[in-house]
Amino acid sequence: MLEITNLRKTFPGSKRNRSQRVVAVDEVSLTVEQGELFTLLGPSGCGKTTTLRCVAGLEHPEAGEIAVGGRTLFSSTDGIRLRANERGLGMVFQSYAIWPHMNVLKNVAFPLEVLPRSRRPSRKDIRERVERVLSVVQLGHLADRQATDLSGGQQQRLALARALVMEPPLLLLDEPLSNLDAKLREEMRYELKRLQRDLHITAVYVTHDQVEALAMSNIIAVMRAGNIEQVGRPREIYDRPSSRFVADFIGTSNFINGTIKRGEGEDVYLVTTDHGEMRATSSVDFPANAKVVVSIRPEHVELDKGATAVNSAGKWSGTVQTRAFLGESVDHVVSVGDLELRARSNPSVSIPPDTDVTLTFPETMCSLIPGDD
Ligand SMILES: Nc1ncnc2c1ncn2[C@@H]1O[C@H](COP(=O)(O)OP(=O)(O)OP(=O)(O)O)[C@@H](O)[C@H]1O
Ligand SMILES: [Mg+2]
Repeated sequence: MLEITNLRKTFPGSKRNRSQRVVAVDEVSLTVEQGELFTLLGPSGCGKTTTLRCVAGLEHPEAGEIAVGGRTLFSSTDGIRLRANERGLGMVFQSYAIWPHMNVLKNVAFPLEVLPRSRRPSRKDIRERVERVLSVVQLGHLADRQATDLSGGQQQRLALARALVMEPPLLLLDEPLSNLDAKLREEMRYELKRLQRDLHITAVYVTHDQVEALAMSNIIAVMRAGNIEQVGRPREIYDRPSSRFVADFIGTSNFINGTIKRGEGEDVYLVTTDHGEMRATSSVDFPANAKVVVSIRPEHVELDKGATAVNSAGKWSGTVQTRAFLGESVDHVVSVGDLELRARSNPSVSIPPDTDVTLTFPETMCSLIPGDD
């Protein structure tokens, strides 16, 4: 549906250093399938907005190709560059614009009303579509309100409604929920996701909020400094981060340095560390003696009271240092020699400091990341 190939966009550097250009997007390639919600996730300044603006036709990339539904919108090699209004895409941006002189209902209906007669829905259909999206964004009760008399969050939802009502083949969303309070943001995540799925809208969604990305996306691309670091389903990205950056950015993780001792059957490796041996899983091949980092999430580290007699692979003795009650879970910090590990448990398993414990690392929950050597 959307195909981006080797997209590159730079900006002039600071006034003092014009020749030193800022590389905002560096050779990005990605494919978004029909009906997918595809998320660009990454820290501030990594190039998410710039990528989206290139697709929208609001930035002029130096190089690359962009095609939607087989139609080329931009190609540096073929000298094609369609204007933004020729691309027929829906957009909601970080800074949203609404029409101040219209009320809420009119703001949403207007883009449909000005369509050429051949493509314009009937009055009844327009009414129904407008009412549906207004109820989705929870603005139905404010339909008659002047757009300027809305709060920031309400204006953001109005901008979203106006893009959704067009049912565009591709919807570009740049942090469309960032101005909403936490509770409404969570509700809107699910509503937006449901609407996108029901209407079979293909969407590229930009956020720096990993929880939002995990909750909403079919596919996540984690970006770092103008590059895509990893692409995958939310579960893959969470359970199988391919780099320390991804593991760190998406939630918290324990990182244990080690060396591959040997492969043990399909995708399983025995790893030697300074604190004992453990097994970990990776779909990428690692040779013996390769330096690696084992990443395991705190909620996957199992804790039992009492030390083990002997450290075996994936079963180590440790001592609880601190614990913190978090409501739904308890976080323990456990020391193993000079290593500190986090273990998140059910509140029924709450172990006081200075208690000796056994840590278990299930091999399927330990993922391997190339070490820096
Ligand atoms: N118009 C511009 N002129 C110069 N530099 C720019 C311009 N727009 C973006 N940049 C730079 O390009 C890089 C990528 O910016 P971009 O806005 O794409 O980041 P982002 O991932 O959307 O970040 P955020 O999460 O903060 O919105 C940044 O280093 C930014 O400073
Ligand atoms: Mg941005």
